[in-house]
Amino acid sequence: MNPFAFRLQEQLHSIDRQALRRKIISVQPLAAGRIEVDGRQYLNLSGNDYLGLAGNVSLLEEFYASIADHKQALGSGASRLITGSRAIYSQLEQSLAQLYEKESALVFNSGWQLNSGVLPALLRKGDLVLADKLCHASLIDGLRLSDAKVIRYPHLDYERLEKLLQQHNDQPGLIFIVTESIFSMDGDCADLRLLTALRNKYGAVLYVDEAHAVGVRGAHGLGLAEEQAVLDQIDLLIGTFGKAYAGQGAFVVGSQMLCDFLINTARSFIFTTALPPINIAWLNFILPKIVAMREERLRLAKMAEQLRNKLCIFNIATGGASQIVPVLLGESALALAAVERLRDQGWWVHAIRPPTVPPNTARLRLSLSAAMQEEQLDGLAEQLAAVVQE
Ligand SMILES: Cc1ncc(COP(=O)(O)O)c(C=O)c1O
Repeated sequence: MNPFAFRLQEQLHSIDRQALRRKIISVQPLAAGRIEVDGRQYLNLSGNDYLGLAGNVSLLEEFYASIADHKQALGSGASRLITGSRAIYSQLEQSLAQLYEKESALVFNSGWQLNSGVLPALLRKGDLVLADKLCHASLIDGLRLSDAKVIRYPHLDYERLEKLLQQHNDQPGLIFIVTESIFSMDGDCADLRLLTALRNKYGAVLYVDEAHAVGVRGAHGLGLAEEQAVLDQIDLLIGTFGKAYAGQGAFVVGSQMLCDFLINTARSFIFTTALPPINIAWLNFILPKIVAMREERLRLAKMAEQLRNKLCIFNIATGGASQIVPVLLGESALALAAVERLRDQGWWVHAIRPPTVPPNTARLRLSLSAAMQEEQLDGLAEQLAAVVQE
């Protein structure tokens, strides 16, 4: 075996020994939050299609009928700054800016590209970033690519955050606070009122990633900042289109100057082919519908609350306060064994293991979708309790 192959094999063995090996599995989405895997059907408790739009056949038919006379291309052919931008891209950005009552919006190809491109563009040597310890990998990688000093405060510990703000108040550069709104692996929520108060008190810049909250929270589905009535006090609000929007891409809303600056400096915006026009057409089609999906949002929240209550009855501790319901198990091997048993019973669950989450906090991350009916969750709490408590 050559040294390169030997190194790969050694590392894969090490991943196996820690029960951390990941594999790609092909699934076929079905209606009502179900999926088919290897010819067997499951209730999908692992997706991010929170409003159930990706599998909504009648909505997809309506969309394709709406573009029947004007077929949208599957590729854009160039970056936005060369010849990849069409009127529908600006239309989407204008709609987002209007909805969020911000001066401007800018669409990126994914949440990953946005966070890992915007942060290094914004941050300078001498700046300080205070980031929640559980921020998503794309935020962490964006920070790693920057020249700023980064301190990660304990998860949701705003007293500690304020102490850090006081300690560093007179440092030369700007201070940025970076957080998610609904945390992706814990399902818990940032207190954006408190964070905006700290931003105002200490003159910090507030960067909020609402990937798991857009479409799902707030009267119009604008996210947690809408729900907590602080939209006007967030400097950069990020949403992604790959989850509740059932599309692809991400956006930032903020000032005109911010978007002009990013168009000129964010490398992951400049040096990449624009999103496929058909995807942008879908986002323009679905955006006003999502704004109106209040009932779906309420039903989703109610289902999640009921699931938490049922799990509590069976002495299963859960975290969070959203459509993401984590069940902490600890060791990765334990989580993998639980997954296998639950899949046998028709529940498609995933073990979330390090490095996605901190060591010894492997968990089942149950995520719900408005496409599901309450009855489809019958039996889940009992069966989960039997599996994890045996
Ligand atoms: C908080 C957060 N931000 C960004 C992303 C990345 O978004 P995308 O999947 O569009 O790359 C994710 C993905 O899971 C996420 O959870």
